[in-house]
Amino acid sequence: MQQPLTLGIAGLGTVGAGLLHLLDRHKDRLEERVGRQIRVSGVSARSQAKDRGVKLGDARWFDDPVKLARDPSIAVFVELIGGADGVAKDAVEAALNAGKHVVTANKALLAEHGLALAKLAEEHGVALNFEAAVAGGIPVIKTLRESLSANEVHRIYGILNGTCNYILTTMAAEHRSFDEVLKEAQERGYAEADPTFDIGGFDTAHKLAILTSLAFGIKVALDQIHVEGIQSITEADIEAAEDMGYRIKLLGVGMRVESGIEARVNPAMVPRHSAIAEVSGVTNAVAIDADYCGSLLLIGPGAGSHSTASAVASDILDIARGSITAPFLTQTRNLKPYKKAKLGAHQGAYYVRLSVYDRPGAMAAIAKRMGDGEISIESMVQRRPRSALPGIGARLKPGAPTPVVMITHETTEEAIRQAIDAIEKDGKVSERPQVIRIEKLTEEDRR
Ligand SMILES: NC(=O)c1ccc[n+]([C@@H]2O[C@H](COP(=O)([O-])OP(=O)(O)OC[C@H]3O[C@@H](n4cnc5c(N)ncnc54)[C@H](OP(=O)(O)O)[C@@H]3O)[C@@H](O)[C@H]2O)c1
Repeated sequence: MQQPLTLGIAGLGTVGAGLLHLLDRHKDRLEERVGRQIRVSGVSARSQAKDRGVKLGDARWFDDPVKLARDPSIAVFVELIGGADGVAKDAVEAALNAGKHVVTANKALLAEHGLALAKLAEEHGVALNFEAAVAGGIPVIKTLRESLSANEVHRIYGILNGTCNYILTTMAAEHRSFDEVLKEAQERGYAEADPTFDIGGFDTAHKLAILTSLAFGIKVALDQIHVEGIQSITEADIEAAEDMGYRIKLLGVGMRVESGIEARVNPAMVPRHSAIAEVSGVTNAVAIDADYCGSLLLIGPGAGSHSTASAVASDILDIARGSITAPFLTQTRNLKPYKKAKLGAHQGAYYVRLSVYDRPGAMAAIAKRMGDGEISIESMVQRRPRSALPGIGARLKPGAPTPVVMITHETTEEAIRQAIDAIEKDGKVSERPQVIRIEKLTEEDRR
């Protein structure tokens, strides 16, 4: 039997406590599987007095995670504190510099400093594992790093934020407004008191930055990602989407295109009967299109104490078995610079919702602007939101702007933006038109 693998766990909150629970419950099973004991030698959190409902055994307590990270008694430092900078970063750097393997669930840290940390890990010949950092319990990092490592990935996209998916799913199912559902999500603990990070798309962008680096062998480049959140999505959009055969999802999308890598976070329309459209509530999903393997879709819990702990534990077991993989699949010197594709060149169909003034010639002027941009319209409906239908709510007042929804045929982002700017300038609409990209899915996804 090999020496026990000794762990120092910093952060005993949702994920840390879940990990201690798992390691205790499956102690014998894990030992059998990797042929050695997994022992928690040291732990750190802010408050030693807090009851966390888990056994700390004879693990030594450290007030300072950095001291734990350097302590000679540990071989693996497990960082479950969170935050891109501050003590989490200091402790991870200290651990790598001291030649310890690192396991972390910290997407912010990796999205901001992943490349520098991967270099440090390489220099010291140690592991930097982060399965839990993207989509919690879904094994997407291992899928990219191991199972698909012989493929060229063309595209990776997914629902990477449970809070946003819960809000959009509930709006659609219960015909309720964004503000109302957000408030309820906050009361139920699904959304933070300050929800900006989630609903603004930034959390998804952190995860996408990590995925695009792994998928395309490029340097992590969080600042190159185009980010749009879900704040502007209204009940009218959700209803129109449903009626036209779509659902709205906040997607993180990374794809190779002719001019480089297109990486964006945006609300997107997906066909209502596609597998990804049916991913509801706080569940996450990641789809990967690869040359030899084809298309894969992984669906599962994107967060939570147990599922995230499961991902962290699998990283620890890899180290226990001696299986150490380059953090971003290849040596950092082989990672290519991020070559950003022009979003204006993005090709696709679009959903456009306009509030058109009820005046003669308004629709003709709008049609002309679309025609000027060579944008052809697949379908166009003048629709009133359900709340304004007779018998359900008030009728639209005479002279009030009329909601018009159109789906375009494939065009470019540049063309659609120019047309929308011109329509707005013409003064035919009462507010900035809503534009949502329609995501092109693979044949398998369409079902
Ligand atoms: N929660 C999820 O479902 C989930 C899913 C995927 C990834 N993650 C990632 O996992 C990490 C941990 O998340 P979490 O939800 O478990 O967070 P959490 O519940 O807030 O726990 C954070 C832990 O860090 C400790 N801590 C904070 N500052 C510290 C300091 N200066 N020194 C020592 N300990 C300190 C806290 O101590 P006290 O307990 O004493 O306050 C707490 O135990 C984050 O990077 C997060 O993004 C979480």
